[in-house]
Amino acid sequence: MAQQRVALITGAARGIGLAIAHRLAAEGVAVCISDLDIEPAEQAAKEIVDAGGAALALGGDVSSPEECQRWAQAAAERFGDLHILVNNAGMTRDAMVHRMTEQQWQSVQNVVLGGAFHMVQAVAPWFRDRERSAPRRIVNIASVSGIYGSAGNVNYSSAKAGLIGLTRTIAAEWARFGVTVNAIAPGFIATRMTAARGEGDALGMPAEVRQGIVARIPVGRAGEPADIAAAVSYFCSPDAGFVTGQVLEVHGGLADITVTG
Ligand SMILES: NC(=O)c1ccc[n+]([C@@H]2O[C@H](COP(=O)([O-])OP(=O)(O)OC[C@H]3O[C@@H](n4cnc5c(N)ncnc54)[C@H](O)[C@@H]3O)[C@@H](O)[C@H]2O)c1
Repeated sequence: MAQQRVALITGAARGIGLAIAHRLAAEGVAVCISDLDIEPAEQAAKEIVDAGGAALALGGDVSSPEECQRWAQAAAERFGDLHILVNNAGMTRDAMVHRMTEQQWQSVQNVVLGGAFHMVQAVAPWFRDRERSAPRRIVNIASVSGIYGSAGNVNYSSAKAGLIGLTRTIAAEWARFGVTVNAIAPGFIATRMTAARGEGDALGMPAEVRQGIVARIPVGRAGEPADIAAAVSYFCSPDAGFVTGQVLEVHGGLADITVTG
């Protein structure tokens, strides 16, 4: 029997990461759900195990190189190997460029781009190994903002653009080890990141902005986390072994979600 594949997904306690964890688990992959919020991560892992899958919850901050090392080691210790890395953890701290604080700029860089960089370094012992015959996959969750820009979050769009550069570079460096590295650029996906923001909420977006974006999506609906999980599943499948260094836009026809004026 072929060895079970093992995936580590960052920021997988909710939203897109959680949908990716469920999708891969349903395909028989052992999933390591890492997140800043350990409680929902443990709950997600429990649900997968209760449904007959294999899962492990890992708490910590992806912007810490030591946490990333610890996650990779814990995943490999528990399940014996590591085959798939999904760099999904992300956050927004929006402001127009002239008002953006150093803290807003740096915190988003550290999580979105720094986190992915540290995770790639952390999985290197398992991925950069010619002796291991199983194919390895890295999928980075970027954003249409990283390709087209988006007013009001230069920290986020710059970090996501950097993630695309990272994708193409690691694809080139690790191709000879049988590792494919691809990115997905979601458009507007319904999660807490894009939920209508109530009075005093730090997360989400103003209700009228949200409404305006959804009304412009040509396929007539907001994206769902499962739409992104399906694309991750494709990149991780044996069918995608010759596909590397690519950015797949998944946006229902609305690539530019910038709202100006
Ligand atoms: N929702 C969208 O429309 C959309 C569009 C394009 C790209 N994305 C990207 O998809 C990814 C998932 O976003 P989502 O919409 O599911 O958001 P979400 O806020 O629902 O989930 C993000 C998860 O990442 C975790 N996280 C945040 N900072 C972390 C850190 N420092 N260390 C560990 N975990 C951390 C959070 O706890 C959370 O569980 C993000 O990278 C986001 O930028 C989302």
